[in-house]
Amino acid sequence: MKFDIYLTEADLAADLRHDVQCGLSTKPKTLPPKWFYDEAGSELFELITKLPEYYPTGCERAILSAHADDIASITSATTVVELGSGSSDKTRLLLEAFGRHGTLRGFVPIDVSASMLEMSAEAIAADFPWLQVHAIVGDFLKHLGRIPDGANRLVVFLGGTIGNLMPHERAEFLTALRGTLRDGEWLLLGTDLVKPLPTLIDAYDDSSGVTAEFNRNVLRVINRELGADFDVEAFAHVAVWNVPEQWIEMRLRAQREMTVNISRLGLTVHFDEDEELRTEISAKFRRHGIAAELERAGFASQAWWTDPAGRFGVTLAQAQ
Ligand code: SAH
Ligand code: AVI
Repeated sequence: MKFDIYLTEADLAADLRHDVQCGLSTKPKTLPPKWFYDEAGSELFELITKLPEYYPTGCERAILSAHADDIASITSATTVVELGSGSSDKTRLLLEAFGRHGTLRGFVPIDVSASMLEMSAEAIAADFPWLQVHAIVGDFLKHLGRIPDGANRLVVFLGGTIGNLMPHERAEFLTALRGTLRDGEWLLLGTDLVKPLPTLIDAYDDSSGVTAEFNRNVLRVINRELGADFDVEAFAHVAVWNVPEQWIEMRLRAQREMTVNISRLGLTVHFDEDEELRTEISAKFRRHGIAAELERAGFASQAWWTDPAGRFGVTLAQAQ
């Protein structure tokens, strides 16, 4: 297995300093969601995927189980590149189908979370000995240009993670991704779909409180990495549906007025009682909207699948 680091500890530290300085100095306060995923945060996300309320993982798994062989035979890809790969658990369904199909040679998982990436890439290399695994610690908003070349690549972006990007970031990301691919190469994109509110809220505010711990983990990351003194338990987990934007927002609400010192930034941040810090958006989509966004970026949708209940969608698109 090959393991490359495009994002060093020093790069990550500089990015975190920048994001915290900017995000906590604006009103409303915001932080980008990639800072959830240290070792503990990645493990909490894996626990979320197993919660009864968190339907996206099971729905996407059902779609991939039903259509992995179609994906292998439509694309005949020689390399699968996975962005935000995490555990790559569902991706195994694709790799098994490609094993039956016979065209695939390489697998390139890319993630900011080095610990999770190393573990999952090593497990895949052991379980798929015929596959060349080249794991990359990288940021899919910064390092698309460094995706290794290949004869006929299929980029997979699963879990609905595209919904965690702001709309302008999403458009820029899709256009940049199209720019790195040759005509005829492929994108497999998982997107969570708009649905009745109670299902959405339960998925982001589960009864066992795992999502709340995942949300608060970003404060633990900032305490550890930047010498901050957030009183983590003084922040309540909040999940709300933003009607005009059609996205779930996760926020952390200060339960009392407080002043936080972030020593490595020389920054003091004030929170009013009930002031909220937005930590994530998770946009929900409709089929025609996804196809239109892909088309604007230079992709033609070639296939669309949902789970039987229509909760989650997977698009296979081709660079045109
Ligand atoms: N694809 C997996 C994991 C989804 S969780 C699944 O479907 O279950 C989101 C993953 O994206 C995490 O592993 C996180 O570390 C990674 N991630 C988040 N922001 C990222 C970024 N900017 N660049 C690369 N990886 C990122
Ligand atoms: C990774 N991403 C698609 C998850 C989501 O559903 O937006 C992250 C998550 N946030 C809360 N629960 C899960």
